[in-house]
Amino acid sequence: MVGLDAFFFFFTWLLLWAPSAKANTEKVIFSVPDAPSGGALENVINGSEFNVIGQLSPAESPEKLLLRIELPREFPTESAPHGVDSWVLLKGLKPGARYEARVCWAATTPSDFWLSVHSPLDNGPGSDLYLKISAIASYYTTNTTLMNNPEPVLVDIILDEYLLGILPRSLLNVGLFVVVMAGVAWYAGFQVIRWLDGITRKGLKDKVT
Ligand SMILES: *[C@@H]1O[C@H](CO)[C@@H](O)[C@H](O)[C@H]1NC(C)=O
Ligand SMILES: *[C@@H]1O[C@H](CO)[C@@H](O)[C@H](O)[C@H]1NC(C)=O
Repeated sequence: MVGLDAFFFFFTWLLLWAPSAKANTEKVIFSVPDAPSGGALENVINGSEFNVIGQLSPAESPEKLLLRIELPREFPTESAPHGVDSWVLLKGLKPGARYEARVCWAATTPSDFWLSVHSPLDNGPGSDLYLKISAIASYYTTNTTLMNNPEPVLVDIILDEYLLGILPRSLLNVGLFVVVMAGVAWYAGFQVIRWLDGITRKGLKDKVT
């Protein structure tokens, strides 16, 4: 019974780690201000001045909050230690809700990212924010072409709402699975105990008679 439990827990533990095994991830967690110009996002920007590469909108497509895109990157310089900035419009967020924005990239394209979230200057009562992604290349190669002009890096940009402020929505399926598996393990363990109990009782009875 202990072995069975251990197996299930090891299995679910493995499952929890599976998404982070194949790619590198950088993330930022933020809360959407309830009131215009309120909240903890101190950096206000003029969105129309920046190069916006795409948008993620929970209001329009709650199931598809993923943007797969090639981001420009540079080697860090003294004037631009964080390389090149790209901006993603986060449209129609729920005021007061907590979100997580993630950038995932393949380990085969060594890069570093910095993420931050900013309010636009003209923010009305609605809740549009901008995600800033700064990207640098972090490799060394003898190929001078690649050292002078790093190729863009293919990334997945993911926006995740926290349910009840604690659990990222995308983890919900894994969370449910863990709960179901724990139930199955408990039930299986219970059956094994009953079975063992039966054997023991039968053994005792055989001895007595
Ligand atoms: C924002 O930037 C755009 C483009 O540079 C400019 O036309 C507009 O006046 C700016 N808005 C504000 C509020 O500064
Ligand atoms: C350098 O890398 C570029 C891009 O991958 C490639 O096209 C080029 O052939 C490489 N040059 C050398 C000398 O290997």
